[in-house]
Amino acid sequence: MNAVEIEEAISELAERPFEAEEFPFAFLEAFGNKETTLKRLRKGESNKSDLGGVLQTNNIHIATCKAGEVTRTLAALKASPATARAKARFVLATDGDLFEAEDLTTDDGPISCAYADFPNHFGLFLPLAGITTVRQVRESSFDIRATSRLNRLYVELLKDNPEWGTAQRRHDMNHFMARLIFCFFAEDTEIFNGDGAFTFAIETMSARDSSNTHEVISELFRAMNTKVAERADAGIPRWAYVFPYVNGGLFSGGADVPRFSRIARSYLLHIGGLDWRKINPDIFGSMIQAVADDDERGALGMHYTSVPNILKVLNPLFLDDLRQQLEQAHDNARMLLNLRKRMSKIRVFDPACGSGNFLVIAYKEIRAIEAEINRRRDEADRGTEIPLTNFRGIELRDFPAEIARLALIIAEYQCDVLYRGQKEALRDFLPLDAQNWITCGNALRLDWLSICPPTGTGVKHHADDLFHTPLNQAQIDFENEGGETYICGNPPYKGSQGQTDEQKSDLKAFFEGRTRNWKSLDYVSGWFMKAADFGTRTVTNTAFVSTNSICQGRQVETLWPLVFSTGHEIYFAHSSFKWANLASYNAGVTVVIVGLSKEPGRTRTIFSDTDGSGTIAKSAENINAYLAPGSNVTIGQLSRPMSKICDMSFGSMPNDGGGLLLDLGEANAATKRFGVDSSYIRPAIGTQEFINGVERRCVWVREAEYEFARKNIWLRSRFDAVEAKRQASPRATTSKLGEVPYRFGEVRQTGEEKVLIVAKTSSELREYLPVGLFVVISRAVVTFAL
Ligand SMILES: C[S@@+](CC[C@H](N)C(=O)[O-])C[C@H]1O[C@@H](n2cnc3c(N)ncnc32)[C@H](O)[C@@H]1O
Repeated sequence: MNAVEIEEAISELAERPFEAEEFPFAFLEAFGNKETTLKRLRKGESNKSDLGGVLQTNNIHIATCKAGEVTRTLAALKASPATARAKARFVLATDGDLFEAEDLTTDDGPISCAYADFPNHFGLFLPLAGITTVRQVRESSFDIRATSRLNRLYVELLKDNPEWGTAQRRHDMNHFMARLIFCFFAEDTEIFNGDGAFTFAIETMSARDSSNTHEVISELFRAMNTKVAERADAGIPRWAYVFPYVNGGLFSGGADVPRFSRIARSYLLHIGGLDWRKINPDIFGSMIQAVADDDERGALGMHYTSVPNILKVLNPLFLDDLRQQLEQAHDNARMLLNLRKRMSKIRVFDPACGSGNFLVIAYKEIRAIEAEINRRRDEADRGTEIPLTNFRGIELRDFPAEIARLALIIAEYQCDVLYRGQKEALRDFLPLDAQNWITCGNALRLDWLSICPPTGTGVKHHADDLFHTPLNQAQIDFENEGGETYICGNPPYKGSQGQTDEQKSDLKAFFEGRTRNWKSLDYVSGWFMKAADFGTRTVTNTAFVSTNSICQGRQVETLWPLVFSTGHEIYFAHSSFKWANLASYNAGVTVVIVGLSKEPGRTRTIFSDTDGSGTIAKSAENINAYLAPGSNVTIGQLSRPMSKICDMSFGSMPNDGGGLLLDLGEANAATKRFGVDSSYIRPAIGTQEFINGVERRCVWVREAEYEFARKNIWLRSRFDAVEAKRQASPRATTSKLGEVPYRFGEVRQTGEEKVLIVAKTSSELREYLPVGLFVVISRAVVTFAL
């Protein structure tokens, strides 16, 4: 089960009438425990509780109790020897009115809430479902809940309005969702007059049978797009006057709204009931984008770039430097002022920004430093000088692009509330700025200099509907022009085999003429190269998260000399680490961070994670393309050995559709039941066989033996299968191999020889590279690469 499914199950449990006996099992079921596991617990076979509750080894000790006994019961659960013996991580007690629980592996103490509210804390229990995550996930419980609810609404609306799911209308659907999210946030944060005003207006003005829900919402949107003085002329109903003029492109364009079923209306009202003040715009954005993506929806709420990972990029890129300056300034008013001025000109540019998480974190961190400056200068309630429009992005997909802008708007408001107070924040918030600083388009085809120009003198562009702006839109001015630009992000990684035709042609268009080997490059290379080109035109430093493959093997000699030729050097790097998020299948992604600069004399630092999840930093004179300290060597490929040793070959490739390879059972049957001459069957060794000690056999017949071998019915059927398989191939060379179905497609083995086998893939958990020596005696061993 994924986090969103768990959240749904937990919410559903909380809505049901409380049944003391059943609750522990229902709770465990909501976290993905199978019926058989629950059966064993019910029977008592695996239930280790000494307090009449339910104790699941290594997981949780749950007890329900009489009214008013919750705190005492939780204490008993904690103190219970059975809890310790079973190494239970959590204890949980409830009487159906109050809910208390504690994670015994942390010092956070117990949580205590009304029973109906326990789903708010479901993030605490995610390890019960095997989802072990960074600590922030607990604070992201709201984001997962909101994502889950919005997803339900999205799917329900598409059911009733299938045309809104078509390519032509998907954008309208996404735009509609972005508007809703804004309204839910605004009604809980005093941006709208009255707590819950938006949901309340829909609840009271729309019919219970949902027949006019879309019309009511449409009128509300129209009101938000019309200045108060113009509302009467525009025919806006009086009940919508209470809503402010929002502008900012969010409500411009059509006010068309999909039709609501009763269920969709009830979902909407429920979503309005959530406390949207708790939204984390960076995390929520990453999660919510999956709603609009049919391929990603299965992993809803799972994609989540943790704040610590984002800070691994932003801290060394520029935040550490700002903090160091703050430290050095102490209370010196002039130095503090200079730092504030510097920060007000900084531009942060993420050319694959998704829903803007890097930009949001960068913005929030800069605001925190600015607030500290203002505090030290006794100007605590001073308005911010950090312009949101200096945080720019490019994103290919339109929903994340919309969410990115919304996330930044929300982040700005939250920072204003935090540092200046609610009143001041409200005063400056509406109407929203009509400038668009997130461009929806293909970053490898767009001119970065026009989206993030080196000076602030671009053409001013105020779009009517910011989310329909053309790709080559003219740039907007940077405020407080003339500052540093920092390029950052987590651009898409796609190995040469995994790229779509469109992505291949993006790389071709960009790299052709620079290198003949562009086909072997990962898609992410385009971002490094474009950033390096950009850096030749303006002062900028760059840091991207990337697959580590661009700093290994054959990509190194293609990409890095090109990047270095622009005058850039690697000034910091983070060596390979696991990119963790809630998606368990994603746990295997290993990434690096590479920081580029052209500034002379910069210190060079290599960061690496230690086992205890700390990070160590080592200085280096130079960091080469392998992210190792040392000179800029690159290791190229050679097809022949440089010294007098034997060639390294790929092994013999069967290309047989399974016709020539046999497991032991098949090989036995061939010789014993079908009378195949045992000299035609040989052991076969590939990576799997070598590493895992598996035995395999293959059919191995020479040309001169073929005619005779074909007389055997079993061999003939094998040859025919191989022939048919090869001939069906669209590749002429493979099809031709159909003429020699008795042998492997590629034979790299002659007679007697010694063979060193180097496994093609091996686990990184091994401390050594497995290499084996085989003596190949004629008719004994065949190697092939699989
Ligand atoms: C790995 S995600 C990173 C997004 C975000 N920073 C995060 O951590 O969730 C890469 C983003 O690049 C976007 N993308 C893919 N190809 C692109 C292209 N050619 N131009 C611009 N954006 C692209 C994807 O849609 C995706 O949102």
